[in-house]
Amino acid sequence: MTKTRASITAVGGCVPEYILTNQELEKMVDTSDEWILTRTGIKERRILKGKDQGSSVMAAKAVEELLQKRGIGAEEIDLLIIATVTPDMVFPSTANIVCDMIGAKNAWGYDLSGACSGFLYSLTTGSQFIETGMYKKVVIVGVDKMSAIIDYQDRSTCVIFGDGAGAVLLEPDQGGNGVIDSVMKSDGAGCKHLHMKAGGSRRPSTRETVDNKEHFVYQEGQAVFKHAVKNMADVTAEVMERNALTSSDISWLVPHQANTRIINATAKRAGLTADKIMVNIQKFGNTTAGTIPLCLWEWENQLKKGDNLLLSSFGGGFTWGCIYLKWAY
Ligand code: ACO
Repeated sequence: MTKTRASITAVGGCVPEYILTNQELEKMVDTSDEWILTRTGIKERRILKGKDQGSSVMAAKAVEELLQKRGIGAEEIDLLIIATVTPDMVFPSTANIVCDMIGAKNAWGYDLSGACSGFLYSLTTGSQFIETGMYKKVVIVGVDKMSAIIDYQDRSTCVIFGDGAGAVLLEPDQGGNGVIDSVMKSDGAGCKHLHMKAGGSRRPSTRETVDNKEHFVYQEGQAVFKHAVKNMADVTAEVMERNALTSSDISWLVPHQANTRIINATAKRAGLTADKIMVNIQKFGNTTAGTIPLCLWEWENQLKKGDNLLLSSFGGGFTWGCIYLKWAY
């Protein structure tokens, strides 16, 4: 019997209009365009402005674009999974809110918290619903409004992050395309290096937590960097090895956009040249769960049916992983 795989059949994306440049950041904190560019590769990032604008706004636009491209209605969606660490609210899930916004009346949905690996975690999870035959149309969104949890007086984090959303539609495929393999990993010991101190059940919000700036991203950059460089390259090599892939078999590496130095280390380990790596960090910065689908969104026109893609990520948790898929259109 032919194996049913989950193929990506449409991509949508949304980045806010407001562009926060390195030059503008130079006026806000003690930093320079040169430092940001050489240490991270980022020139500018997008910021969602406006009262009561949450991740759902970007997610809904990305999904609506995807539906329009595929020529289907929102009521055809069976399941919507949203990868995010910046949900609109602690509850209900942003997925519930987005289903209501777009009119996905027949869908159920939930949020998945995997930080920068959230999109890959969700893609792996969503694929199972297609592979088992349970559902025909599953939408996976990676979205973060990082500006909501960034201290714009902390130069070590505010230069890195941006806001954005990307979405993919998964449908059954029996022609050999779709998600072929997936290796997902996590290590909760990494929590101490990258987290948000308050606002959860362990340390609920109080006047004191706000005064102490505990509702912002806390990151020990160097420790995270060391783990990211090694683990993202290792897991990518592992997926290549167990699928007998050599660098010449790979059409594209789609890496999480945290830092060009981490991306280059992964590409080097996989033996890939720059023309095979999707990089848009210079424009959007690190949008956490948004980076990988935003790359697919930008490169969609260059992708061909049967192309071999490796999607690789590393992020808070620690969480990391790699997915091998064949492009379906
Ligand atoms: N401008 C100027 N100087 C700065 C800035 C800035 N924006 N930020 C830090 N510095 C200074 C530091 O204070 C330090 O100064 P000192 O030497 O006088 O003490 C110096 O620059 C070097 O700082 P490092 O932290 O060692 O800089 P590094 O080269 O490690 O770069 C960075 C920092 C970009 C954060 C890097 O460590 C990194 O990319 N880490 C990984 C990030 C990542 O992958 N995160 C995971 C995903 S995020 C998620 O999951 C939510």
